[in-house]
Amino acid sequence: MKLKQRVVVLCAVLLLLGLAKVFLLDGGEGSAASRRDLRAFRKMEASLALVRGARLTHTLQSPWEVAAQWVGPREVYPDETPELAAVLNALATARVERADVGYKGTQLKALLVLDGGQKVVFKPKRYSRDYVVEGEPYAGYDRHNAEVAAFHLDRILGFRRAPLVVGRLVNLRTEIKPVATDQLLSTFLMQGNNTCFYGKCYYCRESEPACAEGEGMEGSVTLWLPDVWPLQKHRHPWGRTYREGKLARWEYDDSYCEAVKKMPPYDAGPRLLDVIDTAIFDYLIGNADRHHYESFQDDGGASMLILLDNAKSFGNAALDERSILAPLYQCCM
Ligand SMILES: Nc1ncnc2c1ncn2[C@@H]1O[C@H](COP(=O)(O)OP(=O)(O)OP(=O)(O)O)[C@@H](O)[C@H]1O
Ligand SMILES: [Mg+2]
Repeated sequence: MKLKQRVVVLCAVLLLLGLAKVFLLDGGEGSAASRRDLRAFRKMEASLALVRGARLTHTLQSPWEVAAQWVGPREVYPDETPELAAVLNALATARVERADVGYKGTQLKALLVLDGGQKVVFKPKRYSRDYVVEGEPYAGYDRHNAEVAAFHLDRILGFRRAPLVVGRLVNLRTEIKPVATDQLLSTFLMQGNNTCFYGKCYYCRESEPACAEGEGMEGSVTLWLPDVWPLQKHRHPWGRTYREGKLARWEYDDSYCEAVKKMPPYDAGPRLLDVIDTAIFDYLIGNADRHHYESFQDDGGASMLILLDNAKSFGNAALDERSILAPLYQCCM
């Protein structure tokens, strides 16, 4: 065979092998779709990756100023945020300037001010990683690691409605006590060699403090939303009664959504869809405690539902609490 013929035969064989692979091994059309999915997944993975220890490459703005500028009516941070890792790193490492009792909410927490005047919420570790919370779907203390995981799920799903959260180990003796207000300091106590505090809140009890291992306390640190974006609290239409034997209307009336749809802010704009998005998010994280939610103020219903307070999640991996999905199955099915 002449060289030219050989090249033609070789090309034909290669073409046949390529086609065989596509149609026989990969399954044709389906595989093209799955390759597209894989490419999209890899792209998403790359955009979600965070570099540990990242810092801002400029000194024009502080990490707090950068993050404050991200906030908009429908997102806490935009899709493209190359500085996200640097802001998270600052949250995890910036010096604590001041520490006070958390003055909002009913659960134990501390309000910290980080270097540069940035307010953050510190929710202390109460359970070991593998502790399973039994009982009512909203039972137990807050879970600090649930806040961290929920924030990352919010990123993965592309909602971008949860304030930024990191995990952080703080030394209570050297980082917190020297800058703590008297009110917070007065709630410190020792249990054996462990430093503990019980804070000031509705469910805060001296008999139920959060304790460090020695002086080191793990917790979640949530970036406070900028004060120029004041919040408005709303009762969640699918909230629970938290009373044994007393059902909320949605628990016995399957046409409840029809009533909700007639009430502002659910009768127009995106709010009802946000409630449904949140139900899916909460189902995935196992959060049955969204009794209230917050949006930005005075926006005529245009603001997103902010995914604040995801701490009552990931309590029991074996439990899928279907009732969390009620907004979805009552409004959409
Ligand atoms: N990152 C934040 N930015 C702005 N405000 C915040 C932030 N975190 C908490 N808050 C405010 O503090 C309130 C209480 O916070 P959070 O819901 O986390 O605490 P909680 O003790 O679990 O509350 P609850 O008892 O209502 O469940 C929120 O409703 C909100 O008004
Ligand atoms: Mg809560």
